[in-house]
Amino acid sequence: MAFRAVDIIMKKRGSPLEPKGQELSRQELEFLIKGYVAGEIPDYQIAAWLMAVYFNGMTFDETAALTSVMLHSGRVMDHHHTDIPGLTGPFVDKHSTGGVGDKISLPLAPIVAACHLPFGKVQIPMMSGRALGHTGGTLDKLESIEGYRVGLQVEEFQRLIASTGFAMTGQTQDVVPADRLLYALRDVTATVESIPLITASILSKKVAEGSDGLVFDVKYGSGAFMKTKEDAQRLAESLVGTAKAMGKKATALITSMASPLGRKIGNFLEIEETIECLQGRGPADVMELTYALAVQMLLLGQEISQVVGTERLSADQALERCQEALSSGRALELFLQNVRDQGGHPERLMEQVGQRRSPFRREVHATQDGFLQLDAFKLGLAGVHLGVGRNRTEDAVCPDAGMILHKVQGDKVAAGDLIMEVFGQNEACLEPALALIQEAATYASQKPQEPQLIYKEIH
Ligand code: URA
Repeated sequence: MAFRAVDIIMKKRGSPLEPKGQELSRQELEFLIKGYVAGEIPDYQIAAWLMAVYFNGMTFDETAALTSVMLHSGRVMDHHHTDIPGLTGPFVDKHSTGGVGDKISLPLAPIVAACHLPFGKVQIPMMSGRALGHTGGTLDKLESIEGYRVGLQVEEFQRLIASTGFAMTGQTQDVVPADRLLYALRDVTATVESIPLITASILSKKVAEGSDGLVFDVKYGSGAFMKTKEDAQRLAESLVGTAKAMGKKATALITSMASPLGRKIGNFLEIEETIECLQGRGPADVMELTYALAVQMLLLGQEISQVVGTERLSADQALERCQEALSSGRALELFLQNVRDQGGHPERLMEQVGQRRSPFRREVHATQDGFLQLDAFKLGLAGVHLGVGRNRTEDAVCPDAGMILHKVQGDKVAAGDLIMEVFGQNEACLEPALALIQEAATYASQKPQEPQLIYKEIH
């Protein structure tokens, strides 16, 4: 059947008699997306369709169909059918909707890979993104390690997963090209904040990396993409429901990003904090979230593997395995092995911990007595000035820029106490960054009730 873009837009848009429009079929969505990627349907028609979706939403089935159509616009990895010895799976990954100081992927992958389970081990094909706006990016953090390569070819990626249990790479140009085009258009047509469009965008990229199971960390709060718990829950339910509709096992945690995670924000600074975590010296919030996500990954791996007759672990037992993987030193060993695998130098890295700092340094002191409040969003924006993050995808970041928090959210401080050390990419960036940090730090007279770090699990 021959379609016309205008009819599909009209169907989604609806009319006064049918204000919510209608569900589009897979064939209609395929016609739109394939036509757009091929350059046959112009931006203005896709923009009109995006706006109709923004206002009228999509059903679960429609979101799953859009995700699948986007997924198949590019290369889809299959780790189950290769001749690489040891590439056995189950393959499970984690996705975070992003935040400030969110380095969780870095300790998480080696902890999960180091756990011995009744069925064997979970393997982690981790494909990550770069910093954008106020949120940090795993690839930029990894690239702050001298020599570390994030642009792995598929076969090398798979060999490293087979040997070390995990590998970390960026998306190649051939993964979900439809998302690159659609996201750029959404960005300039005010259609980013749509749950089905976000779901299809995130999920198509995650499914393309070849995982059998996905754990989502959906954040809410000032430093998150979703500002409220309710919106985060809607996104989490959409991600889990759509992942399942696509034949994947999935779980989501809804977690707070009202204030930054951990004590170090910055690219190399977050590598340092990762090593501290793997040495058993990590901040309580980073460890709590890392373990909670690790447990969910192990439980999904167990569900996927379904080896008849093997012992099934409870969540508490899975947590014990994670803690043992860390206390035995195996998780740190695997992290350093991954650094070696991907071109870095573990010995040099360990020598640089605590030493490598930008020379453009300032201290921030409390301006009042009270209980410190740190707004994640404003600190993230300060990070962009410092060189931790970027405003445009083509901007460079500075590996040694960042912030070390000497006091964190809820700490009681007295005027004059050192609350933060700040490191910039140059001298000029410090002034605007410090102005934002002063705005980000406020002082409450009563100890405020902190939001729970982990608000809810969605299965
Ligand atoms: N992250 C994505 O990858 N896509 C979106 O649409 C929003 C956040």
